[in-house]
Amino acid sequence: MRRSSLYVSSCLLYVFLLSCILFTPTHSSDGDEDGDLVDQICRKTPFYDLCSSILHSNPSAPKSDPKGMALIMVNDILANATDTLSYIEELIKETSDEKLEQQLAFCAESYIPVVKYIIPQAADAISQGRFGFASYCMLDAQKEVNACDKKFSGSDQAPLGDRNDIMQKLVDVAAAIVKLLLNG
Ligand SMILES: *[C@@H]1O[C@H](CO)[C@@H](O)[C@H](O)[C@H]1NC(C)=O
Repeated sequence: MRRSSLYVSSCLLYVFLLSCILFTPTHSSDGDEDGDLVDQICRKTPFYDLCSSILHSNPSAPKSDPKGMALIMVNDILANATDTLSYIEELIKETSDEKLEQQLAFCAESYIPVVKYIIPQAADAISQGRFGFASYCMLDAQKEVNACDKKFSGSDQAPLGDRNDIMQKLVDVAAAIVKLLLNG
């Protein structure tokens, strides 16, 4: 009796150990898999090249999760918007054209909330998993940049055209990634 129960339990132990070996997940995390995920995510955004170049050029980036990627994009938007805001302030100082000055001042008022509130709040929301709010922030940022851009429509000069264009694309990419997080 004793011997057979010892036999049974050693069998069970054997099966247990075997299944441990068989079902231990293998962690093969090489760079290619990361690349694949960046690719997969960026293909679902409207500007694949822009998305991919930003995510790949960020060495500290956790490229293995979409949330980390959304944060990288949002931080990139913040850097870009901050730079554009100081550019606008420079242009305001330099110009003697009253109409241009008014247009630029309007744009400064669009970019200030983007830099100070909207994008930092979006970053917080993404970190905390509040993707619905982050998505709303993206819409808000889009509205501000569009408003600035419209201010120059029909005008013979558009000193912020390229910068607004890049901002719109960056925000579109971030919004698409946030939407994936929201629906995932
Ligand atoms: C803004 O974004 C564009 C496109 O990614 C990039 O070329 C440029 O260097 C960025 N500027 C800043 C200040 O981040």
